[in-house]
Amino acid sequence: MSDFSERLHVYQKSVEKALGHWLPDTSIQPEKLHEAMRYSVLSEGKRIRPVLVYATGQAFGVKLEALDGPACAVEIIHAYSLIHDDLPAMDDDDLRRGRPTCHKKYDDATAILAGDALQALSFHILAHDPKIQVNSQQRLSMIDTLAIASGSRGMAGGQAIDLAAVGQSLNITELENMHIHKTGALIKASTELGALSVENVDLDLFSRVSQYAKCIGLAFQIKDDILDIESDTETLGKPQGSDREMNKPTYPELLGLNGAKEAAGELHSKAIKCLDVFDEQADTLRAIADYIVKRDK
Ligand code: IPE
Ligand code: IPE
Ligand code: MG
Ligand code: MG
Ligand code: MG
Repeated sequence: MSDFSERLHVYQKSVEKALGHWLPDTSIQPEKLHEAMRYSVLSEGKRIRPVLVYATGQAFGVKLEALDGPACAVEIIHAYSLIHDDLPAMDDDDLRRGRPTCHKKYDDATAILAGDALQALSFHILAHDPKIQVNSQQRLSMIDTLAIASGSRGMAGGQAIDLAAVGQSLNITELENMHIHKTGALIKASTELGALSVENVDLDLFSRVSQYAKCIGLAFQIKDDILDIESDTETLGKPQGSDREMNKPTYPELLGLNGAKEAAGELHSKAIKCLDVFDEQADTLRAIADYIVKRDK
């Protein structure tokens, strides 16, 4: 195993253990809702957002356990966004992480409520987790960072742009704006939560990491659009070809597959450049940028 895959494994295991702790047990009422929440969050995701929280926090010298809470918070918001994204009113998909989507396994109402409850849980974790090491003021900044990144000026806003764009032809600036919001915002928040897990963070370093995240966040969604064409349902664990079926504007549709790959490659180089003031403490962040553009799922 390479250093990076070992580290990825450590981070994935760490967040999964913490998620299991924070999610209400299925024996607690309302059982079906808690079952649906656990079903969606504890399925096999790549955990790239928690991995970014850990890698950024560790680049700033934060201990792993102080990062569990922020890592869980962002993964739980992401899980909620996927549950709602798959609903009939949105992308209407039946498969997620290799299993029936939440509304297929349970029902639409339970899926909507599971998303709502997960969103609230993630802010509870940030407000409450005793392992977070920073003062109350900075804890508030963490809560605010995640709130803005999830809301109408972040992920939810991006999803609204996505739905309004169905069947439309967006230009490259509009498409970039959509991707930066629906996917980039949470990826950027992941690195910011990692950096905010230490007090008195250097502002220049903070802004470099945010810039890095902005680039890889956009590259991540471009790669997602590419995989929707090039990969297969079994590898992806979600329906290949869903974008075309729903008539979604995507990078490959606008730039062609090669153009989309070039765009992702340019963003990767830009992201790596943002990290040039860091030494080897940012190697995991560099490896994550590579992983994002090379991944097959
Ligand atoms: C899928 O996210 C939705 C996008 C924002 C592109 P991921 O590709 O991170 O999905 P999981 O968490 O690994 O299932
Ligand atoms: C999803 O974009 C973005 C969010 C869930 C916020 P997609 O709709 O492309 O994600 P997949 O392909 O269904 O995972
Ligand atoms: Mg979608
Ligand atoms: Mg979708
Ligand atoms: Mg997609």
